[in-house]
Amino acid sequence: MNKDTIHILAIESSCDDTSAAVLANDRVLALVNASQAVHREFGGVVPELASRSHQKSIMPTVQAAIEQSGISLTTLDAIAFTRGPGLLGSLLVGTHFAKSLAWSLGIPLIGVNHMEGHILAHFIRGDASAHQSSPNLTEPPSYPFLNLTVSGGHTQLVWVTSPFSFEVVGETLDDSAGETFDKVAKLLNLPYPGGPEIDRLAKTGNPHAFEFARPQIPDLNYSFSGLKTSIRYTLETLEREDPERLRRELPDICASVQNRIIEILTDKTNLALERYPTEHITLSGGVSANSGLRSAFLNLAAARGIRAHVPPMAYCTDNAAMIGMAGYFQFREGLFDPLHTTVDARMSLQSGSF
Ligand code: KG4
Ligand code: ZN
Repeated sequence: MNKDTIHILAIESSCDDTSAAVLANDRVLALVNASQAVHREFGGVVPELASRSHQKSIMPTVQAAIEQSGISLTTLDAIAFTRGPGLLGSLLVGTHFAKSLAWSLGIPLIGVNHMEGHILAHFIRGDASAHQSSPNLTEPPSYPFLNLTVSGGHTQLVWVTSPFSFEVVGETLDDSAGETFDKVAKLLNLPYPGGPEIDRLAKTGNPHAFEFARPQIPDLNYSFSGLKTSIRYTLETLEREDPERLRRELPDICASVQNRIIEILTDKTNLALERYPTEHITLSGGVSANSGLRSAFLNLAAARGIRAHVPPMAYCTDNAAMIGMAGYFQFREGLFDPLHTTVDARMSLQSGSF
């Protein structure tokens, strides 16, 4: 298709955020998120409530994104949506909405892998407001690059050789880094999601106050279950000794937990770089919003004399802009989905090349 500017509406509904974005090629014209507070009282995402909430939010979220973008529906060239992985009921809401709108407008439909979206978020040129949080980190990486994805559902090291070729070279054997943050926060009676809370409290704590277990996992794989058990035992012992200690030493506990998680993540990244040498490393997923991890990642790259790329905060946690970016790469190759496409809750990264 010979057209200079491609307008894509992107929809993300894989978990507990309903998000819509409008992109003009690799630039974000609008990004609107509706987060679901309903899960807070349960301390985690309740799938049935998530899909109901998407049903309510999807229409106003898409309408707001279109309105903010300043373009009309008839200007759209395609609709991108998250086809997987994620919660089945949640994915179905966004997918059906995308299908119906694409059909009514007579434009192509682009099914996007959520995990590829997190990685390709590094190629978004973005809008000024989203980039204010890290103005000097927006230059896209060059291929091949090593990506560390750390989200609520995944912790994986991915070797990326093109926008369509992703090789998982290491991944968690049990919990993800995000789950570890969230589960520890629950033990500490902090609200869900726990990652941002631990991040906030860790800022005033001593990262070496507590020495939690360090897993010994071969190769490039991760494990967080041993660390989680070690934290639980320590917290139980502290509470037995003095119930007030947990509250008093909360910043030290959070800083020590965060420090250990960051060490585990960066140690394996260093090991991966020995096996997959590259000039560029990238950080993706919700946990990449963590301030300690962001600076540790930048320091790791500086020590090795390579470039680290960390997306602006707005593109770290789940968002539709990253789905639009991945959709744009697919659009350029004519990679469209038929209207009878179905969601794939366990969708894996693609390893082909074009
Ligand atoms: O990528 P994401 O938004 O959703 C999934 O696809 O899973 O990641 C959500 C995860 C949650 O576990 C949340 O606690 C974590 O990202 N998270 C953080 C921070 N902000 C979000 N973890 C640590 N520090 C943060 N600042
Ligand atoms: Zn995600």
